[in-house]
Amino acid sequence: MRTQVAIIGAGPAGLLLSHLLHLRGISSVVLERRSRDYVERRIRAGVLEQGTVDTLIEAGVGERMLREGLPHHGIELRYGGAGHRIPFEKLVPGRAITVYGQQEVVKDLIAARLAAGGDLRFEVEDVALHDLESQPYVTFGGERLDCDVIAGCDGFHGVSRPSIPEDVLTVFEKEYPFAWLGILADVAPSSEELIYTRTERGFALHSMRSPTVSRFYLQVPPDARLEDWPDERIWEELRIRLESVPGFTLATGEITERGITPMRSFVAEPMQYGKLYLAGDAAHIVPPTGAKGLNLAVADVRVLTQALAAYFADGSTDLLDGYSEACLKRVWRAQHFSWWMTTLLHTFEDDDAYMRRLQLSYLDYVTSSEAAATTLAENYVGLPF
Ligand code: FAD
Ligand code: DHB
Repeated sequence: MRTQVAIIGAGPAGLLLSHLLHLRGISSVVLERRSRDYVERRIRAGVLEQGTVDTLIEAGVGERMLREGLPHHGIELRYGGAGHRIPFEKLVPGRAITVYGQQEVVKDLIAARLAAGGDLRFEVEDVALHDLESQPYVTFGGERLDCDVIAGCDGFHGVSRPSIPEDVLTVFEKEYPFAWLGILADVAPSSEELIYTRTERGFALHSMRSPTVSRFYLQVPPDARLEDWPDERIWEELRIRLESVPGFTLATGEITERGITPMRSFVAEPMQYGKLYLAGDAAHIVPPTGAKGLNLAVADVRVLTQALAAYFADGSTDLLDGYSEACLKRVWRAQHFSWWMTTLLHTFEDDDAYMRRLQLSYLDYVTSSEAAATTLAENYVGLPF
């Protein structure tokens, strides 16, 4: 079996790449370890930057997102007993975010690929990458796929990054001393906009998926276990952290999904080796506070698509050679922003009274200075692609 681009992983990065390549007449095969049902149900991110929204619309897969997604023109930062709105329409005119679940993006992309006769293989076993420096090929479940290029879009725990010799990669990494407990609940959102809350008990986030479904996150200890968090405890803790301003009441409902995500920052450089190009979580991870993970994956794929289009058009390798460098600028901007938002809003057990005062003082600055608020808004809606 032969294709031009072998794509490992059917997350947002792999699926979007396969679709964008198809639009340019470039063939690909997507190899995914999990089932279609599993990847379509996996609940993760929900905030799409303006550039991500524009990319999906331009690629012809934005129709349902435009119908069902929720455009947001601001977020609230809540701390010290008061809420402070960061107004995007005033600070970054014309730019906004859209709340639309990652699994909905994945469903739309799978539907588009299948409608166009795309070759997506689910539940493939034992994927291995070979001969990355000359004539690359991929083996899986007893089959062999020859290709010109491999795109490693298989997330943080995939096989692509570990296929690169260790001495080639420089790894930058930071672990945070907490995790996020995330839930999805059948209840109308208690607020029209997302609320990022800092309290002495830790961070909480009120997000949403639709007019009848809400999404919440709680900062929990890094070793927290779901069995220690029965529904009543989750709602009680969300209430304490979110009902921290007068007149706000949190509506509760049936919890339909729950999970705990460790918090990590990670970058592997360069994002390429021989004929292998990494995109998305395979190359970098951010803590979710800045809502950047999915958006970075989309940005990588845009750069890679252009580079591959040039390569298959006339054999030019300039853009491919510069792929990693082109992506890493945005990656490191998002690394800093995500670290900054995380540091601003979470409680760190080691922090003494002095550090806590500094944190509150910084929050006051961000919510009272137009320049500081604009920095937050500009990064949150995403720098232009
Ligand atoms: P992924 O979505 O991870 O896709 C990789 C795909 O590769 C998966 O389908 C996987 O099954 C497949 N794969 C892995 N190994 C192999 C293999 N050996 N062979 C074949 N296929 C393989 N971001 C936010 O902004 N907000 C959030 O709330 C948020 N929550 C998250 C919660 C969790 C548990 C995780 C893991 C991530 C979360 N993120 C969040 C980050 C965001 O979801 C990711 O940045 C985004 O999914 C990246 O897309 P991707 O396509 O690069 O990787
Ligand atoms: C959501 C996730 C995030 O990480 C974030 O910063 C905002 C919203 C969400 O899942 O809705």
